[in-house]
Amino acid sequence: MAKRLKVGVIGVGGIANVHFPGWKESPYAELVALSDLDAATLKRVGEAQGVSLLYEKPEDLIANKEIDIVDICTPNMYHRPLAVAALEAGKHVICEKPLAPTPADIQQMIEARDKSGKLLMTAQHFRFEGSSRALKAEIDRGVLGDVYHARSWMLRRSGAPTRPGFIQKKHSGGGPCIDIGVHILDLTLWMMGHPKPVSVSGITQAKLSKLPGAFSNWGGPIPDSFDVEEFAAAFVRFDTGATLVLEVSWLLNHKTTGEDMQMWLYGDKGGAHWPANELLFTSNETRQHMNVQLTNKESGAPHAKECMAFAEAVANGLPSPVPAEQSLDVITILDGLYRSAAVGKEIAL
Ligand SMILES: NC(=O)c1ccc[n+]([C@@H]2O[C@H](COP(=O)([O-])OP(=O)(O)OC[C@H]3O[C@@H](n4cnc5c(N)ncnc54)[C@H](O)[C@@H]3O)[C@@H](O)[C@H]2O)c1
Repeated sequence: MAKRLKVGVIGVGGIANVHFPGWKESPYAELVALSDLDAATLKRVGEAQGVSLLYEKPEDLIANKEIDIVDICTPNMYHRPLAVAALEAGKHVICEKPLAPTPADIQQMIEARDKSGKLLMTAQHFRFEGSSRALKAEIDRGVLGDVYHARSWMLRRSGAPTRPGFIQKKHSGGGPCIDIGVHILDLTLWMMGHPKPVSVSGITQAKLSKLPGAFSNWGGPIPDSFDVEEFAAAFVRFDTGATLVLEVSWLLNHKTTGEDMQMWLYGDKGGAHWPANELLFTSNETRQHMNVQLTNKESGAPHAKECMAFAEAVANGLPSPVPAEQSLDVITILDGLYRSAAVGKEIAL
């Protein structure tokens, strides 16, 4: 086998820790460098991972000519500048979700990718879950027929993060829409075969986060600096005539202890529910309902699997496992949701 691809990770606070096992397990990659603006975090994670090439300035990691792949795990607003700099330096880039908070940012990243001829992938780990892959395989076999409607949600009760990188717009670019809406929307569009979104009608709310004593089970009191939405909902139309209802929240008086993440897909041959992974059929001949339980054939931690899939794609000249154009559609819808909420009516995309 050719030499292993050298990987440098930028932003080693939280999510990077579930990327490391993928880089270590991949036969195509080796983890060689880390960067974080916070010196103490960088030192601690460097020791824990056995990595000695440590950079407090991400531009120094990007300037290292030995590095082939840059993995970006910083808060959202730093994804675009770091990814563009890394692509311009000739690196392949995998970047945490959202690829960036606005369509204009993602377009710049796509331009930089095309100029460099390197790969750019969004780390949408739910696509690498065994349950998602089992359902996607059935849908690609046509068992649901034409999927003409979907209902998707990701709802938490008292589940807002409280770190600045998530709750201050200048670091995050938005609230739960941009944080967890990205997950369920990406998964739904992938299952639907990426129809082109043409319009969106959306609303956002910040109510519970503004009540006296507002708190989150994910981080304690909600700081006054919380300046993003806590809830959003949208109705989306696609060029195929298909439609989607989306709901996302970090703080909602909803019946769940942790996180309620669901997707319902309705086609003219059958329906499906994820994550239960049940297929739902109705026979006009027998007038009977039939529910089919899918089994997950694939195991493994999805964050690690996405990193391994990226290294394999780079090593073998394959396309990006999650192309930036698909993330552009996701963010076009969420950006449209925000714009629709601001003007109080449906808008064309
Ligand atoms: N896929 C998932 O399941 C998942 C889960 C959580 C977070 N995320 C995404 O991962 C990203 C990071 O989230 P997190 O929870 O790890 O945040 P975090 O705050 O725990 O860690 C981010 C780290 O980046 C560092 N940092 C900030 N700006 C930097 C810069 N310009 N250069 C170098 N380092 C910088 C910070 O010091 C911090 O250590 C976000 O985009 C978030 O949306 C994805």
